[in-house]
Amino acid sequence: MSGPLVLGIETSCDETGVAVLEGMEVRSSVLASQVDLHARFGGVVPEVAARAHVEAIRPLVHQAITKAGVHPDELDAVAVTQGPGLVGALMVGYAFGKSLAYSLGKPLYGIDHMEGHLFAPRLAFSGYEPPAIVLLASGGHSQIVHVKAWGDYEILGGTIDDAAGEALDKLARLMGLGFPGGPAIDRDAENGDPSAIRFPRALRDRPYDFSFSGLKTSVVTYLEKAKSEGSLPPREDVSASIQEAIVDVLVTKTFNAVEATGVEVIGGGGGVLANRRLRERLAAEADARGVGLFVPEPVLCTDNGAMIGSVAVHKMERGEQGDPLTGDVDPALRLGS
Ligand code: KG4
Ligand code: ZN
Repeated sequence: MSGPLVLGIETSCDETGVAVLEGMEVRSSVLASQVDLHARFGGVVPEVAARAHVEAIRPLVHQAITKAGVHPDELDAVAVTQGPGLVGALMVGYAFGKSLAYSLGKPLYGIDHMEGHLFAPRLAFSGYEPPAIVLLASGGHSQIVHVKAWGDYEILGGTIDDAAGEALDKLARLMGLGFPGGPAIDRDAENGDPSAIRFPRALRDRPYDFSFSGLKTSVVTYLEKAKSEGSLPPREDVSASIQEAIVDVLVTKTFNAVEATGVEVIGGGGGVLANRRLRERLAAEADARGVGLFVPEPVLCTDNGAMIGSVAVHKMERGEQGDPLTGDVDPALRLGS
């Protein structure tokens, strides 16, 4: 395989991710997770995240380049997340990427974090091509995207309140499962009964939209009532039932879009796509309908530098020029706008 050599940098939230790609081949991908730093606060603290990125980024870039066996001068471009995300965290990566591009005399590509998630399956599957319906579910965003062509995105729907990951994080905290909540609920649910409690599935009348804030209220109410009645089920059953309520909605709405568009390719990206139950349910449904499912391995679903690099590789292959070095981060960047 060949293609441009691209350094991808991701710092939009609590993971510093750096990768070197050669075309769509990942030559190296390294990550500095801040989970331990934020765990005692029960969530990501923006200033703490930005400072941790400052400390991690230089050694991590060095590590990625060394592991890939390339010299910085050989790089064809630097790709870095421009938004959406936490402003301070984004600024660290963007400023670093910009200065590196400047000092190497190489083009800079500012990348939309969600487009990175959308592209990530390309790193794992060469057959992942539009038209596709892509489920994006992360800590900050949940969307169903109709990818008509690369770069041509119609957002069919999304969350009207909490993102799926955010809901899992809040619910896990409520149940004392720690941070980040998604993986904790995933683990806890493994030994639970998903049909133990029927939590509500909201917005049934809107085919592609989600709402998860009501679920939180319903779990709180349920737990209080069960506690006072002395009928509290095993925690694993509550976790499995919460997970099922979220997964059910994500799967149903994704396949609503597949049905309505007639598209036969489904992609998935964002941290929540690392969830084992979600992956299992999507696979079963795709199988039953005979459509292709392209959800990469969990490390490519959660934040990483490779997905950022992959969007830049695509832009370069299409002949798109890099960005002016006068650009800035855009914490509110929206896919398709
Ligand atoms: O895409 P991501 O790594 O960062 C953002 O862009 O936000 O997604 C992080 C989210 C968190 O809410 C986390 O709890 C969730 O993804 N997550 C999971 C799993 N792994 C990460 N949710 C469910 N099951 C998992 N295994
Ligand atoms: Zn993400």
